[in-house]
Amino acid sequence: MTAAPSFSQRVASYQQRIETALNDWLPAEDIVPARLHSAMRYATLDGGKRLRPLLIYATGEVLGLEPAKLDGCAVTVELIHAYSLIHDDLPAMDNDDLRRGKPTCHRAFDDATAILAGDALQTLAFQVLAEDSTMQLEAAARLQMISCLAKASGSAGMAGGQAIDLDSVGQTLGLVELENMHIYKTGALIRASVMLASLSQNPQDQAQREALDSYAKRIGLAFQIHDDILDEISDTTVLGKQAGADRALNKPTYPSILGMTESKQRAQELTQSAIDALDIFGAAAEPLIWLARHITQRKA
Ligand code: IPE
Ligand code: IPE
Ligand code: MG
Ligand code: MG
Ligand code: MG
Repeated sequence: MTAAPSFSQRVASYQQRIETALNDWLPAEDIVPARLHSAMRYATLDGGKRLRPLLIYATGEVLGLEPAKLDGCAVTVELIHAYSLIHDDLPAMDNDDLRRGKPTCHRAFDDATAILAGDALQTLAFQVLAEDSTMQLEAAARLQMISCLAKASGSAGMAGGQAIDLDSVGQTLGLVELENMHIYKTGALIRASVMLASLSQNPQDQAQREALDSYAKRIGLAFQIHDDILDEISDTTVLGKQAGADRALNKPTYPSILGMTESKQRAQELTQSAIDALDIFGAAAEPLIWLARHITQRKA
């Protein structure tokens, strides 16, 4: 018997799939206000690893859900993510010039357009969850998804984490505070990605949901630890964003607080415990196991 092909062989086709779905949802550049629509498309299309959509499709594979019913969830998280990156790069936040290998949105356009593009991407994300017909969901499941995404993006999630990040510049955080910041600013949206896919399951299996949630929490933290590590050890061309930016801005990061060796070890421990959380799925967990390993092995 031959083994089923690894998830790695399907990554490129899922990346193409999310690109098409995003392109369909984003307003065309020739629709007024054209400059705002251009900025939204510039910051969202043709770039990035699409890790959050990949997590959604991988969770779908594990639960036996068709990708066609998950495109709406994949679009919604990637829109929130793209908005968070635009605002993260603004002069009032990380003041970065390079993102995904090209000038940041406020550099290519202007600060006001970048702020508005972020705002509009965020609201488009919720419009997708409310309207997308391909998801074939009952209103109650949509409401659960809207609530899940709102919490993960707001002050108890990504935006809250970004506020803690800005407040922490120049501070020496304890490990618990650092971990908390990472769980909010990055972990929450990664966790929501897996949870949105699981909310598409009908009927929902509570034990599977809990296992997926444990997995997602752990990889979400591992992801940001590895982002901090890459900022320190990688270079700008490979990353497609400015390397060494955290140190230059005096940001508390895992390497700055725990040191490089312990940071790598912590990311590895989290990866393994995320994989352990998937035990109940047996061999069917392969897509999510592959992604968990990829998160701390990636070069960018
Ligand atoms: C970068 O996220 C921002 C963080 C949350 C650390 P990604 O590394 O997923 O960025 P893209 O989407 O691939 O550009
Ligand atoms: C940003 O974290 C997390 C977001 C919510 C966008 P970082 O500031 O470390 O992300 P990068 O390194 O600029 O991509
Ligand atoms: Mg930042
Ligand atoms: Mg940044
Ligand atoms: Mg970073």
